[in-house]
Amino acid sequence: MGAKSIAVLTSGGDAPGMNAAVRAVVRSAISAGMKVYGVKRGYNGLLNDDLIEMNLRSVSDIIQNGGTTLFTARSPEFNTPEGVQKAAANCKRRGIDGVVVIGGDGSFRGARDLTGAGVLCIGLPGTIDNDIACTDFTIGYDTALNTAMEMIDRLQDTSESHDRCSVVEVMGRHCGDIALQVGIATGAVATLVPEVPYDFDRDIVQKIEMVRATGKTHYIVVVAEGVGHTEELARKIEAVTGVESRATILGHVQRGGHPTVRDRVLAGRMGYRAVQLLEQGLGNRVVAVKGDTIVDYDITEALNMPRVFDEELLEISGKLSL
Ligand code: F6P
Repeated sequence: MGAKSIAVLTSGGDAPGMNAAVRAVVRSAISAGMKVYGVKRGYNGLLNDDLIEMNLRSVSDIIQNGGTTLFTARSPEFNTPEGVQKAAANCKRRGIDGVVVIGGDGSFRGARDLTGAGVLCIGLPGTIDNDIACTDFTIGYDTALNTAMEMIDRLQDTSESHDRCSVVEVMGRHCGDIALQVGIATGAVATLVPEVPYDFDRDIVQKIEMVRATGKTHYIVVVAEGVGHTEELARKIEAVTGVESRATILGHVQRGGHPTVRDRVLAGRMGYRAVQLLEQGLGNRVVAVKGDTIVDYDITEALNMPRVFDEELLEISGKLSL
């Protein structure tokens, strides 16, 4: 039997487009005749029974906003068998038989466990990192890419004026997708990602020397957060090449801002699919996009999928920055 009363929450690191996803879930659920609750601060809201019933107007004017109006949190208490049972009991007491969880892999593990405790859960991939294997794109990734690109364009201006090298760290603890894409988009002379080991001399110094010999006088090096040592790298580049270098860590600016069209539309389509699944009485599913098609997978299957890093794109990036 399909879910009659559902809840929606955002969990883990926030991402632009989460609000658009919440809006899509709320409106789709109400259209389907369901009761729908917004849960505050991720799984903590289920543990503390911090929920509000949503209506069509509860999600007015949020589609354009970054962040999440439901707030978000990482919840160590929920990640215990007792926590999961307590959250499930709170859901059952309110008659909630389905939950849409918008977040990353960690949040999906919670969704799997909560489904196991009798509450149907659907995961929507919401994270700027794009580190979820089952989907081509996560909600928030496109906005973060555009933010990082714009910031690097600005660094490009000042690097050019001063004949400098800008070493820029973008987010992505385990995943170099943001670095790879913005490295290409900004013409970085080198892009360092956690998935592929680099050689300082071959991949940075020689590249700078090569393009310097052709008359270039300013350089961008993009470093994924997972590679780290950004300040040290800038110091080393200056010491070895003689090019004055500056390190910039973009940090959490990449997590905010108005979501792009792509992120809003992706969030809308995924939120709609999540409610359809719950209507059919299905749980333990993750919604994803493959090509331009919205698909869904069993959560365990999705969590076990290996992430594939596009090494060819990294190579192309190197060729285009000569
Ligand atoms: O997962 C998204 C992300 O922004 C990562 O890129 C980054 O490593 C991490 O979250 C930062 O987490 P926090 O906001 O808790 O510092």
